[in-house]
Amino acid sequence: MRYLVTGGAGFIGSNTVDELVRRGHSVVVLDDFSAGKEDNLAESRNKITLIKASITDIEAVRKAMHEAEYVLHLAARTSVPRSVKDPIDTNRINIEGTLNVLVAAKELKVKRVVFAASSAAYGETPTLPKVETMQPQPISPYGVTKYVGELYGQTFGRCYGLESVSLRYFNIFGPRQDPASPYSGVLAKFCTAFLEDTPPVVFGDGEQTRDFTYVDNAVQANLLACEAPNVARKVFNIGCGVRVSLNEVLRALTKITGKTLEAKYDPPRDGDIRDSQADISQAKEFLGYDPQIGFEEGLARTFEWYRESQTRTAAKAEKVTGEPNSARSN
Ligand SMILES: NC(=O)c1ccc[n+]([C@@H]2O[C@H](COP(=O)([O-])OP(=O)(O)OC[C@H]3O[C@@H](n4cnc5c(N)ncnc54)[C@H](O)[C@@H]3O)[C@@H](O)[C@H]2O)c1
Repeated sequence: MRYLVTGGAGFIGSNTVDELVRRGHSVVVLDDFSAGKEDNLAESRNKITLIKASITDIEAVRKAMHEAEYVLHLAARTSVPRSVKDPIDTNRINIEGTLNVLVAAKELKVKRVVFAASSAAYGETPTLPKVETMQPQPISPYGVTKYVGELYGQTFGRCYGLESVSLRYFNIFGPRQDPASPYSGVLAKFCTAFLEDTPPVVFGDGEQTRDFTYVDNAVQANLLACEAPNVARKVFNIGCGVRVSLNEVLRALTKITGKTLEAKYDPPRDGDIRDSQADISQAKEFLGYDPQIGFEEGLARTFEWYRESQTRTAAKAEKVTGEPNSARSN
């Protein structure tokens, strides 16, 4: 089968690409590398077609989609705070870009588009866990754009017969999530803080909760959503169905590393929601989704990946300078 993965050089995208390649599929990646990295594709680089272009360029999207049967549309501006600061930019990439992907998919008659939607669509709806039938009430421009993407997908089904499925990911974490970006996931930042013995920064009191979901579970959902029968126009929560507070994450990292770090508590950020937890019964029933990696195991694997990647970076620096990293004075 031939797949186009937009945003395939990013965190979830590259993990998805690797699994598709392992299963013997033909894969095209379209990414503008605004956040993604070629290094993320190291495992699959020689087996895929990589196109550096933006989803805002519809001609590039058409070319990349040529002969694709399935489109996994993950390219996006992913940051909530950035969307609050610059909603026009987030709108352009996440809504206009998504529209280009859908238009090209309709023209080229792809079998199905799987859209990376978000739990941010729910916003401050009070009920937990979140169920797909609840009325979305996004509280950030990012959440609006992700919800609009779902609506556009469903509307293209009604108007043009294009099949699409939207997956509302809940706080995905794991290897390759970029801890350097000011907007990256909190677990990536906490892991680096524990590696570097610097105080982890918590926005708010740390009692806010998330349904932290290891990336392999999201990859499983992506692949199932392409081929599951009778799911056109449906929206599914993709999480683990469990709520973990940031303070609990810090305690889990203390257990994994044997270190106790004093956290720095800063004021809450604009657009952040208080609690989040997925009801995943629909995804289980319709997609056969069954998350295999729980929070603690995922966190241990993720921490190990950041530790190894720090060692790799230090070894690279040593090769370039000829001296051990610690010997440099700066
Ligand atoms: N990580 C999460 O917890 C989470 C939660 C909900 C939804 N999502 C969604 O999942 C998708 C993947 O997120 P991620 O966490 O892997 O983020 P990421 O930033 O690592 O990946 C996004 C990728 O899209 C690319 N991109 C951005 N703008 C582009 C453009 N104009 N044209 C082409 N490529 C472009 C980036 O370079 C990057 O490689 C996004 O759509 C995001 O909104 C992620």
